[in-house]
Amino acid sequence: MPKVLIATEKPFAKEAVQKIKSEFDAAGYQQVWLENYTDPEELRKAAADAEALIVRSDIVDEALFNAAPKLKIVVRAGAGYDNIDLAAATAHNVIVMNTPGQNSNAVAELALGLMIYMARGKFNGKSGTELAGKKLALFGFGYVGSRLAKMAKGMDMEVYAYDPYISSEIMIQQGVTPLNKVEDIFTTGDYISLHIPATAETKKSVNWNLLKLVKDNCILVNTARKEVIDEDALIQALQEKNKFRYVSDIAPDCSEKLMAEFAERVFWTPKKMGAQTEEANTNAGVAAARQIIAFFEKGDTTFQVNK
Ligand code: 3PG
Repeated sequence: MPKVLIATEKPFAKEAVQKIKSEFDAAGYQQVWLENYTDPEELRKAAADAEALIVRSDIVDEALFNAAPKLKIVVRAGAGYDNIDLAAATAHNVIVMNTPGQNSNAVAELALGLMIYMARGKFNGKSGTELAGKKLALFGFGYVGSRLAKMAKGMDMEVYAYDPYISSEIMIQQGVTPLNKVEDIFTTGDYISLHIPATAETKKSVNWNLLKLVKDNCILVNTARKEVIDEDALIQALQEKNKFRYVSDIAPDCSEKLMAEFAERVFWTPKKMGAQTEEANTNAGVAAARQIIAFFEKGDTTFQVNK
């Protein structure tokens, strides 16, 4: 039976681990678990005879594929697969999948929590502001963006969205006002929340041309990837707009400078926390296990991303 390596630098919750184990036990698959590792060499060694691999944000690169000659499938238990070298995977005939939507509620809840935290001045005891009646502009209307839209509407926010890959009709059906162009996100939002993947097209795409447009008291929420922001432009926005705030799920590269100069107006989680709930770990981990089993048993490649 196939041998599966589950490798997570940032482990799944215990509950999720039990459920993933049960899926593979029931299918009779061998499992090797590598958790909390710190050296990529540990991953390469563990992958030496694996035919399937489950990861989270773990780096899966050419060196890993070279070290894992039996590997047939990698499933990223999560949405973003910018940690996986797709070209190298394809060159090694390895199928790559993600588990879209499985952790989106957790990420949307974190985005909402970060919005409230910043609106209340990081709970500093002074008067803050409320979300009700404010405009939330979403950059990206996939699983996380649409889930956050639903929550924000429940909080009486006006919700707007821009996503070149999603039709306006879908937004309108969900009570969200479609925006025609990317600039409109930045002129509209009292809150702007980013829900775009990190790709060649999006890296550093939130640049000064866009950030110069934000309202002076705008709160920019980034639970996507730090790479989508042009950090020089972020610094400039904080310098030029004296109520502009930035909150993110993972530290930016310029975190020391931001903390030194704008401590009251910036915040980030100490580790990437968006998908770090029992529920999200279980949903994404079990989906990954089932996708691997369906691939070996039925040749199912539904969620393949390196087609
Ligand atoms: C994702 O892309 O699914 C999220 O960013 C979660 O990443 P994580 O599994 O590393 O927490």
